[in-house]
Amino acid sequence: MTTTIHERQSAATGHEFLQRALDDVDPQIAGAIRLETDRQNDTLELIASENHVSRAVLTAMGSVFTNKYAEGYPGKRYYGGCGPTDIVESIAIERARQLFGAEHANVQPHSGSQANMAVYFSVLKPGDTIMGMDLSHGGHLTHGHPLSYSGRDFNVVAYHVRKDDELIDYDEMERLAEEHKPRLIICGASAYSRVIDFKRIREICDKSGSLMMADIAHIAGLVAAGLHPSPVPHADFVTTTTHKTLRGPRAGLVLCKAEHAKDLDRALFPGIQGGPLVHIIAAKAVAFHEALQPQFKEYQAQIIRNARAMAKAVGDAGFRIVSGGTDNHLFMTDVFSKGITGKDGQNFLEAANITVNKNTIPFDTQKPMVASGIRIGTPAVTTRGLREPEMVTIAGLIARVLDARGDAGVIAQVKKDVKELCDRFPIY
Ligand SMILES: Cc1ncc(COP(=O)(O)O)c(C=O)c1O
Repeated sequence: MTTTIHERQSAATGHEFLQRALDDVDPQIAGAIRLETDRQNDTLELIASENHVSRAVLTAMGSVFTNKYAEGYPGKRYYGGCGPTDIVESIAIERARQLFGAEHANVQPHSGSQANMAVYFSVLKPGDTIMGMDLSHGGHLTHGHPLSYSGRDFNVVAYHVRKDDELIDYDEMERLAEEHKPRLIICGASAYSRVIDFKRIREICDKSGSLMMADIAHIAGLVAAGLHPSPVPHADFVTTTTHKTLRGPRAGLVLCKAEHAKDLDRALFPGIQGGPLVHIIAAKAVAFHEALQPQFKEYQAQIIRNARAMAKAVGDAGFRIVSGGTDNHLFMTDVFSKGITGKDGQNFLEAANITVNKNTIPFDTQKPMVASGIRIGTPAVTTRGLREPEMVTIAGLIARVLDARGDAGVIAQVKKDVKELCDRFPIY
């Protein structure tokens, strides 16, 4: 398998060893971890924001760095004993800068949400106007949704996709920006399958005098591999999670221009976080190292090929694909085009060990908890080594389950087929 970085190591190493230590102390949690391991092994994971990290990343995450307090930054800590921590954080920063070609990197955000919060705290005041993509059109909660911190203290203006082709309406963005003069324009998405024109957004920001933040949480791996245009040359700030296409630990990262570095670092610590999670930073450094290897580019290319193959096959099975296809790692399927809600679709598929998430689609007529769509992504199955032929097989399984509308016999049969497929492509 050329696209997977997982090495098949002897069962006595690494995590089996740690698991046995846990068995002795806490059989309940050890048991739950085994259940989750089995679930992941026996499931086709199509949630676009998930992945299977390497043993090396897992090992760094489970390391003794979890014991260390290290408030501050390399060379400027509030605690003693930070020598090895400084090595880890400095390497992580350097690798992140190299991977994305960024002037400055802060590797301390605990999550994508906190990466975004750090940017807002560094350049915004309460009452400032921000502009982000509407959640139901593909944006993220932290881009100004009223239920999130980002929608509480700021005046939020949302832009959308066009109704006819479901692509970002840059003309609307430009019009709204000129009208509202937002202090910050946020781009990037959670449920958008097309290339984002970061250069055009920079031009819009320049006209309206706005700062630009690109949240590449989903497409970071594609950007790192050069398979999606990078926002780094254009944006003042680039935020990301490290656990989606980037295939690292669950965490965040902020990149920015040198002129914003001091304000950003201060906004993150002591602004919104206390001590960094050094074990997670170590795992981020490992993931960045993996992403700098030539085979990572091939992995990302395969993710895209797989998403295209599956989107086509799901479309051929009669489901409407939002925007007609995909340029990245995910595609949105309008299951309501066949009279099935996203909620039912998700549940039917879960019963057959195929995991997806329900998702609103642009101009959805259903409530978010019901939704008309499901979001399907290929990063995790690509890590397992699956390729285009298996994508077509999976599309067929999805169509069988959905068309049978939860029929128990069909689900049982598909579950068997899923198991056979998963057994051919073990994760660890
Ligand atoms: C675009 C985008 N930004 C931010 C986040 C938040 O990341 P986290 O769940 O790590 O807080 C997500 C998570 O799904 C996302 O899709």
